[in-house]
Amino acid sequence: MLPVPFRIIAHRGASGYAPENTMAAFRAARHMGVQEIETDVHFTRDGELILLHDHNLERTTNGMGSPAAQSLAELRCLDAGSWMGPQFAGESLITLAELLATFTDEFTYHVELKDRTPGIGVATARVVQMYGRTADVLLSGFDCDAELLAAKAAAPGLRSTVLLSPKRDTAEAILRTAAAGHDGISLYVEVITREWVRAAHDAGLEVRCWGIRTRQDMERGARSGCNGMTINWPDWLQQWVAKTGTVTKTGTVCSQPSTGDSGMDTCR
Ligand code: G3P
Ligand code: CA
Repeated sequence: MLPVPFRIIAHRGASGYAPENTMAAFRAARHMGVQEIETDVHFTRDGELILLHDHNLERTTNGMGSPAAQSLAELRCLDAGSWMGPQFAGESLITLAELLATFTDEFTYHVELKDRTPGIGVATARVVQMYGRTADVLLSGFDCDAELLAAKAAAPGLRSTVLLSPKRDTAEAILRTAAAGHDGISLYVEVITREWVRAAHDAGLEVRCWGIRTRQDMERGARSGCNGMTINWPDWLQQWVAKTGTVTKTGTVCSQPSTGDSGMDTCR
């Protein structure tokens, strides 16, 4: 069974096909019919929220150093597309506000607090509120519980997902995440099992899977019974669901009856 809704989340946009965290990547996700995207936020020097994964600019732009050392105006001048191919030359870094203003209700947004500077949770929540998207955003982060909880307190209705490093104790993290009042947990694909997913569901948490690099990873994650996954190639997952699942009249997505022990042969 694939829980409903099963979240096919374009990771940093459809970043397997267009430069991550740029408009091109989010437009590519929309073009594929994907309804959920993931992105990462960092503070700029002047307190704006820019979408960038790494803690420095070198890998995905022609800039250098930390985004926190530059103003938004300076960061906007950088080329964030050419590293992936000449056809993306001129793609620029964008802000969370621009993302929300552009795509409004076309996506559910999974926003990771990649920068853990104190105050980034509340700052992110304020931008989400300003654009009226509180119900459509799930904040997430590794080891930043205080920021996630502060954001939820600032914007009631905002949901949070704790991202778990494979180095952490999964059992303890599930209990701690539920007790803290988060809405979900995201487990690394090499850690996730049906048993961990069941334990998290029993604790009242939605479960996501992260770290997919291959189609085998994707299938392992999807067969765990989790509620969705971030993936750079969302079309792989769309194809897998189309091949192995069925959509009922009520919109339920479930796998075809199986004689194996996948635990995925019923809908609910
Ligand atoms: O879905 C979580 C995932 O985005 C975490 O990994 O490296 O892309 O931030 P990373
Ligand atoms: Ca991320």
